[in-house]
Amino acid sequence: MPSDVGATTEAATVTTTVDMMVLGSGVAGLSAAVRAAEVGMSVVVLTKAEIGNSTTRYAQGGIGAAMEEPDSPELHLSDTLAAGAGLCDPEATRVLAVEGPERIRELIALGASFDPRASEIPGFARGREGGHSVRRVLHAGGDATGVEVERALVAATRARAAEVREGWFASSLIVEAGRCVGVRASDPAGMPHEVRATNTLLATGGIGALYAVTTNPPLATGDGLGMAWRAGAALCDVEFVQFHPTALHHPARPRPLLSEALRGEGAHLRDESGGLLMEGVHPLGDLAPRDVVASAIARRMAEADVEHLWLDATGVVDVDERFPTIVASCRSLGLDPGVDWLPVAPAAHYLCGGVAVDLDGATTVPGLWACGEVAASGVHGANRLASNSLLDGLVFSGRCVEALARGKSSAERSGVLCGGSGRGPVPDGNTSLDSITPAEPETADAVPSLEALQVTMTREAGVVRTAESLERAAAVLDSFRGGATFPDGREEAELDNLVITGHALVASALRREESRGTHQRADHPGTREGWLGRLFVTRGHEPDYVPLPSVRTPPTRSHVP
Ligand code: SIN
Repeated sequence: MPSDVGATTEAATVTTTVDMMVLGSGVAGLSAAVRAAEVGMSVVVLTKAEIGNSTTRYAQGGIGAAMEEPDSPELHLSDTLAAGAGLCDPEATRVLAVEGPERIRELIALGASFDPRASEIPGFARGREGGHSVRRVLHAGGDATGVEVERALVAATRARAAEVREGWFASSLIVEAGRCVGVRASDPAGMPHEVRATNTLLATGGIGALYAVTTNPPLATGDGLGMAWRAGAALCDVEFVQFHPTALHHPARPRPLLSEALRGEGAHLRDESGGLLMEGVHPLGDLAPRDVVASAIARRMAEADVEHLWLDATGVVDVDERFPTIVASCRSLGLDPGVDWLPVAPAAHYLCGGVAVDLDGATTVPGLWACGEVAASGVHGANRLASNSLLDGLVFSGRCVEALARGKSSAERSGVLCGGSGRGPVPDGNTSLDSITPAEPETADAVPSLEALQVTMTREAGVVRTAESLERAAAVLDSFRGGATFPDGREEAELDNLVITGHALVASALRREESRGTHQRADHPGTREGWLGRLFVTRGHEPDYVPLPSVRTPPTRSHVP
């Protein structure tokens, strides 16, 4: 269906109007675009890179879903809840576990191909990763699952004739009378445009570029979070940044990932002296949930004053066939996983929180939707179960389009919004609003570089935090201007998005005076029952604590004067 029905409104500004605009071209964005086009909506996908170039393609391990017995959605649900350290939304997590298998069958029908069982019995090969009680994880090309998922979705998007605009950068949302009606964006030549849509879907991925050590591509600049926050939408759970325990210790950006599936096939973590790291730490040993493994590595590295530990994959059978991407990347750096122990250290990997959404991906701003890593759907709680991210993108993008098709127009009290967002009506993003950051740095010289911010975030707001380290990160964030209502240009907007996200993350991490899942406070060890709730961040406000519905006791705020 042709989408351009608008007219030129002023020099260099073209107004386009579509039913649905999708920002981002990873698994969440493209599966939404395909589904929306299938139900007859006019769709435009805006992506700041080329279609197919997204974090999705870096996914190695696979997609976890209960595709066949003896596995079951109940078991997948209970593993996900256990990994999430008390903060998964049970309703959203049930949706993920129950609807996941059908969404994967739909993806296969679109052309995605997963590795079959080696035996005569028909079905898929299933790998195991941290926190899974059974072999459940489907993979493609051994360890190239994201590449295959992205390939199939790009082909399906093109086949459904959804319009794709590559190299288009969306810098801010247009909010009129409290409703999101599209975005301001620049085309590949840098010309400004307004692209208007009845509904706008954020599928812009994560925030890895906030950290110096990350598995994410440099594109992951928190664009959706920054835009949503500027428009008055609520963010939540942003203190929960998942660190992948086993990124190859190497200066490359992104850090080469050594999939948890290696440990699922028998690889072991070893400390600086060669001892087995996870022995006695957790009943699941090397396959403990990711937060447990990452913090065990980080703490050991600090105690021994070393920059990395070791992954011993020398015992993995058929490592070349099963993990061709990893083997090739190691060999290109002179390492042979069949022979050498591999140097590893944790790296920022995935944001468990994000833009707060209900069970259908509706945000607190009508007309604005979010799915995939940018969204806090509630299924990851304080720590995402390995290989649940592609599934999250598939399941909640599907629900979002189905909700739009049946005429839903704004968020309900469900999912992470079941207890409310902690804020009243959403402001109109066209008005100038207070920033959570100081307006100006003291002198031009005081403005630090993005690189300095990334190093600071890795050191001070990384795997293990304290109030002092977080205050130091906050001070560096404060020296950026940040929070512009309509930032000019791509670089300024990306930096602004990272600074906004950094502020939300650090303010929430300071406020949460406990250790839970991926949020580990050395000065507040242990999980506290009184913190069984979410921190919501909205523009102009300190993080707002909303207890989970069954919990009534608010936490103390000892650090707040
Ligand atoms: C991995 O393969 O270890 C990463 C998978 C994930 O992040 O879920």
